[in-house]
Order: sequence, then C-alpha cells, then structure tokens
Amino acid sequence: MNLASAIKISNKAKASSATHTHADKRLKMLEATIKRYQYQQDALIEILHKAQELFGYLDNDVLIYVAHNLKLPPSRVYGVATFYHLFSLAPSGVHTCVVCTGTACYVKGAQAILANVEKSTRIHAGETSADGQISLLTARCLGACGIAPAVVFDGTVLGNQTPESVCDRIKGWLQDGSS
Ligand code: FES
Repeated sequence: MNLASAIKISNKAKASSATHTHADKRLKMLEATIKRYQYQQDALIEILHKAQELFGYLDNDVLIYVAHNLKLPPSRVYGVATFYHLFSLAPSGVHTCVVCTGTACYVKGAQAILANVEKSTRIHAGETSADGQISLLTARCLGACGIAPAVVFDGTVLGNQTPESVCDRIKGWLQDGSS
C-alpha cells in the first residue's frame, strides 16, 4: 500500500477502532498489551507480534488501531509490518510454511527450497493459495542456524530440509485435505 492509501485508511481509523473495540475480545487483549507497553512507540514490533498472534494476520483495521493507540502515522506502522517477513497482511491458510532465508539457511540452500515451494504451490512468499490451504512466508532467521536450512511447518521447526522434503510435506498436507 502506498502512502495515499495509508492516509485514506487513516481517515477511517476512529470508526474502525470503535467497531473493533465493541466487537472483538481479541482487540481487548491487544489493548491490554499496548497498555502493558505503556503506549510506547518503541514497542511497535512487539505489539504487532501480539496482534498477529491474536488475529492470525495484520489487516488494515488492526494496523490502524495500533497506529491510533501509539499515536504513530499509519504509514509508519504499515511500513514496519511490510518490512518484516514474519508479519502477514493476508489471512493465513489452513497450513503455514515459513522458509528461513537468513544467512546460514541461505548458504545451505534456502533459495532452492523457496523456489521449489513457490513453483509447486504456485504462490510467492507472503501469499496464501487461492483455496486457502497454504500460506507461504519467509523469515530472516529462526534462531535454528545449527540445523540450517530450517523450515517451519505449522509452527514446528524442522532442520536439514531439502527442496524435496519440503515439497513432500506440503503435498502431504494437500492430499490429507485436513487441518
Ligand atoms: S539463518 Fe535460518 S535459522 Fe538462522
């Protein structure tokens, strides 16, 4: 989203946050988190993490809500949310595959893994398949460099992955057709 869009969203901020405040308990939990961080703008990343944990992804209304509460320009919040690959701006699929592209994993072939997954799922990193089955994300480092290349499958980190092992697991998900 460009700045113009961010500003447009900004104009809806009050209405959006008001709707959420009454409609969603998760927003109350987010509000509690923001309070715990004493509305500090420096805590933006931690707060976005919490928001993603609560909502599964960061939609425009949530970004605006955070911006409004931290008194930050929506463009700044949006910029941070799009810069870090661990943040997702689209709804998560039934399954989530996060390919680490940090240095250690890169050296051990993360790019080949990612390319193979993108080819077999026909989606790019940061996207969810049209059927809503799979979300593909990348991370800069999962803190598991010793077992690089590492991939997270539905929250479980597996190391020493290959393009084939990753695609086999994804195929398994699709054949299962289950969550
Ligand atoms: S670079 Fe991949 S786990 Fe650290």
